[in-house]
Amino acid sequence: MLHWLIAGTVLGLFALGLWMVGLDYYHAWYHRAPELHKGVGVLLLGGMLLRLAWRCGTPQPRLPGTPLQQGLARAMHRVLYGMLFAVIVSGYLVSTADGRPLDVFGLVDLPATLSGIDRQEDIAGVFHKVLATIMIGLTALHALAALKHHLIDHDRTLLRMLSTKPPVNIHRKS
Ligand code: HEM
Repeated sequence: MLHWLIAGTVLGLFALGLWMVGLDYYHAWYHRAPELHKGVGVLLLGGMLLRLAWRCGTPQPRLPGTPLQQGLARAMHRVLYGMLFAVIVSGYLVSTADGRPLDVFGLVDLPATLSGIDRQEDIAGVFHKVLATIMIGLTALHALAALKHHLIDHDRTLLRMLSTKPPVNIHRKS
């Protein structure tokens, strides 16, 4: 459930981000869209921390395929986790570059930590856009690999991600 919730949120934030930077000042969503983008982005950070805690605290289903495929899948998962954190942190650094806290739906103020660096907003903005674009490209590869398991290998890799039943093959950490 966390996987699909996070995947949908990431795709939504990517589309929203691309759309909002092209908005005209007089557009009704000129202020609202970035507020939504930042607020949901911070909630996503909470979701990611929860996912990491869940991952560390529960047994993992065994990965299917050859050792090479398992290694590639594991590497891709790590890269996607790392990039997601980097996209969130760079977005935070754009938003707090002027030293003002980040307002999350008027409920919480996330304080600025690193701010006032020369051209911080521009540099973090370029990182944010480039990392987000690469991450979406890698997500597409990750999804294609899952579809390959389903359509070509005919195994349960994708189905077990959609099922509420526990997977048969559980790998317990020692
Ligand atoms: C997975 C999470 C996220 C994705 C995929 C994402 C994606 C994007 C994209 C594609 C843009 C448009 C960039 C451009 O065309 O210049 C954007 C802009 C922006 N995002 Fe995000 N974003 C995410 C999370 C966040 C977070 C957590 C924050 C802040 C806390 C944030 C703050 C911003 C800001 C301030 C802009 C405007 C940057 C500018 O005008 O240069 N984003 N985002």
